[in-house]
Amino acid sequence: MSNKLLATAGFCAVAALALAQWPANAADNAPDAATLIPARQSALMLSAVAFGSMKGAIDSGGDVSGQAFAAKALARWAHTLPSLFPAGTGKASGVPTKAKDEIWSDRAGFERRAAEYAAAADRLAELAQANDKAAFATQWTAVRQACSNCHDAYRDAPPAR
Ligand code: HEC
Repeated sequence: MSNKLLATAGFCAVAALALAQWPANAADNAPDAATLIPARQSALMLSAVAFGSMKGAIDSGGDVSGQAFAAKALARWAHTLPSLFPAGTGKASGVPTKAKDEIWSDRAGFERRAAEYAAAADRLAELAQANDKAAFATQWTAVRQACSNCHDAYRDAPPAR
């Protein structure tokens, strides 16, 4: 065999080996339920903090342009949300979660709620940027409704007090 042929054969063998390893490595590197569930829960809590603080700005009657950063952050999070609910991160994982099984049995419905939330949050960010106080206040209520629409169907109800 020529050196060139040997080199090609060697390269193919390495490439084949790498390809055979790839899916296994990808799975090994995927974050598991014990990582993902606390991460999404803390992001959800932080999103509630950002969202709640906007209400303070609305009630004070001042400019809302200062809310643009928080509103943009909320919108980015809204677009990311469904990716933090992959299969295998429900109650069967054994990690404490309020995520209902319907997230996976009715995935299209869950994705639709998330998309509605993301669209509402995008609009909220635009209105903050434009410093449109009245429309921002109305849109804040629309976003809150989008939170509830998803929670009602896909999150355990909080315990009755
Ligand atoms: C597309 C669905 C969806 C939307 C939209 C949504 N949430 Fe949630 N939220 C969930 C699910 C599911 C959980 C439970 C997550 C878990 O326990 O693993 C949750 C949990 C939470 C939690 C509790 C976190 C914890 O562990 O204590 C807060 C706070 C929260 N959401 C706030 C919000 C706010 C505020 C909005 C809107 C600005 C919002 N969510 C929009 C689905 C959604």
